[in-house]
Amino acid sequence: MKNTQNSSQSQFDKKSEAWSARFSEPVSDLVKRYTASVDFDKRLALFDIQGSLAHAEMLAAVKVIQQKDLEDIRRGMAQITSEIQSGQFTWLLDLEDVHLNIEKRLVELVGDAGKRLHTGRSRNDQVATDIRLWLRNEIDQIIELLRALRHALASVALDHAETILPGFTHLQVAQPVTFGHHLLAYAEMFGRDAARMADCRTRVNILPLGAAALAGTTFPIDRPMVAKLLGFDDVCRNSLDAVSDRDFAIEFCAASSLIMTHISRFSEELIIWMSPRVGFIDLADRFTTGSSIMPQKKNPDVPELARGKTGRVNGNLIGLLTLMKGQPLAYNKDNQEDKEGLFDTADTVRDTLTIFADMVGGIKVKSDAMRAAALQGFATATDLADYLVKKGVPFRDAHEAVAHAVRECEIKGCDLADLSVEQLRQFHHAIESDVHQVLTLEGSVAARSHIGGTAPQRVREAAEKTLNETRPV
Ligand code: ARG
Repeated sequence: MKNTQNSSQSQFDKKSEAWSARFSEPVSDLVKRYTASVDFDKRLALFDIQGSLAHAEMLAAVKVIQQKDLEDIRRGMAQITSEIQSGQFTWLLDLEDVHLNIEKRLVELVGDAGKRLHTGRSRNDQVATDIRLWLRNEIDQIIELLRALRHALASVALDHAETILPGFTHLQVAQPVTFGHHLLAYAEMFGRDAARMADCRTRVNILPLGAAALAGTTFPIDRPMVAKLLGFDDVCRNSLDAVSDRDFAIEFCAASSLIMTHISRFSEELIIWMSPRVGFIDLADRFTTGSSIMPQKKNPDVPELARGKTGRVNGNLIGLLTLMKGQPLAYNKDNQEDKEGLFDTADTVRDTLTIFADMVGGIKVKSDAMRAAALQGFATATDLADYLVKKGVPFRDAHEAVAHAVRECEIKGCDLADLSVEQLRQFHHAIESDVHQVLTLEGSVAARSHIGGTAPQRVREAAEKTLNETRPV
């Protein structure tokens, strides 16, 4: 059955009637649109129903409503759920938001029991509950996606524990590193992101319902019962705080900004690595597009867009912080503005992580190009300095001697490894015939075998540890 705007049975057809006799004139169409949130908060509908059912069950348990009312409410809500899921539900701007739309339909369907549902409750604690239920669900999905992304990173890392590429500082060749080690750096970042999300979840998962408008309610409500029914860990301990603060959503946005910041860093590297001038990797065609004018182009659109979308997620964080700033207790309508940015952040992060987990698994690694690049730019200069130190030379003197050798190579147009022992000895007499071992790329990475180092053995261990931590459950 369809819910119609003109139904004469409706309990409050016009918004002014929703607030009963208090108002003498209806709001203008513009004000109606300005104050309404149903266009976007209808997304909370199923969580709103879940919260209402728990509230009703509690009201029946404490005998504020009859068992029969509870049954009617359940029946009505089941019908509304199916109307929403099948797209049959008619959302009315006149009814302002998701809460009033559902409540009105319930009253249409079940009469007085529907009118009793809002006993001991306000939209203020209702909406705060809905957002927390919705956000908890989003966080769980994001944590799962971070796990999948870390798993993908670790499995490529394991395959490339021995693949050498230049590590950069200031975008200049610095020291050789293994590609696996490089990827695991991102797995670490996303691991912290997941921990931050899990921590944020502990503060999201607290029940505001029972706070009513702001001061609590005169009915003998059982808040722990509602919390248990809805899977909340606890109840908010102060009614004024419960209905007004959105710090839990701000935390989520901050944690999301960090995820996107890490994604943007990784994206930047993918873009550089994929540039034909660098040519370290290729991305699967399904993550790239061509140019409408330049036939040779294969553009890394997905990483570039992800880098760009970091901006909107940061914007949503600042928006929410600014929304909350200076708000006096308790609920203010300002808070209706919390939703669109929050929804957008969750959608953006979820889509981005889903795509990245898939994209990472399909990276084509061009090991030869990586190796060739690592052989340029004196990547083993530090190894030569360390070699001298191990022969008893103070580090600063060793550094100076190697700097002279690098300068000579630049003039000659060759690498340190191309110089003979005799030529190298000109820069320091402590250099001996074993020197070339430390000038190789393999020697350089293998020597960094401490915890957290780039040596293949360590990278294999780290990759396996991450793979274990991120096994699908
Ligand atoms: N749509 C409102 C919101 O999202 C629900 C709470 C309305 N409360 C009120 N006092 N006007 O915040």
